[in-house]
Amino acid sequence: MKPWPYPRIIAHRGGGTLAPENTLAGLRKAKEMGYAGVEFDVMLAADATPILMHDETLERTTNGRGAIAETAYRDMEKLDAGSWHSAPHMGEPVPSFERAGRLCIELGIWADIEIKPAKGYEAETGRAAALLARELWRGAPMQPLLCSFQPASLAAAKEAAPELPRGALTKRIPPDWEHWMQVLGCVSLHCDYRLLQPREARAVRDAGYWLLSYTVNDPHIVRVLFDWGVDAIITDRLDLIGPDFA
Ligand code: G3P
Ligand code: CA
Repeated sequence: MKPWPYPRIIAHRGGGTLAPENTLAGLRKAKEMGYAGVEFDVMLAADATPILMHDETLERTTNGRGAIAETAYRDMEKLDAGSWHSAPHMGEPVPSFERAGRLCIELGIWADIEIKPAKGYEAETGRAAALLARELWRGAPMQPLLCSFQPASLAAAKEAAPELPRGALTKRIPPDWEHWMQVLGCVSLHCDYRLLQPREARAVRDAGYWLLSYTVNDPHIVRVLFDWGVDAIITDRLDLIGPDFA
């Protein structure tokens, strides 16, 4: 099996706990800490602009109110997505996926792009994220990985930009995981480390797929997972794990 070609330690939602999630400040923080790979979430605003956002509503991470799918990006752009984290980040904007992607390329950091659709927008979000990723990373030395918990998003990404690699996200690895990997043409399976068994890790690797685990914040657990054959982990604790943990 080809070795995992991307960074083994991936910063969760941009800068993990060190910066407001899914912001340009988070991507810069990851780079500043020496991380070569970041994960972030892509959702569609009401006008179908792909943006970086985890929740389906604005309340937790911005000073706005309401549903992402009902808010146009021109209104979201004015919001403060940094104050909830800390005062120095006051005024940090909600970035468009386009700006975030361009920044990753400029900083030379690899992107693990989670397609995070609001309910009912699974295929639309998968298609939009894949088409924009194709355009942004055209000719770039390292292609991003598109992943999702939603099979419909992965299917739409596959149809729109089949050449971009895809990863299937799951909490526990389901009994029919191999079927889904084949149908969706995925190269990697990403699971919750707390629900992973060593025999499952072996089975995934033996079947020729890469295996990732989230969200791992304890260096001892990273060591155990790597011993089980996990290829890469996603962490919130950029300060504890370190980009070169191997
Ligand atoms: O990429 C895995 C991880 O990000 C999934 O969980 O809730 O942080 O998007 P969540
Ligand atoms: Ca995510």
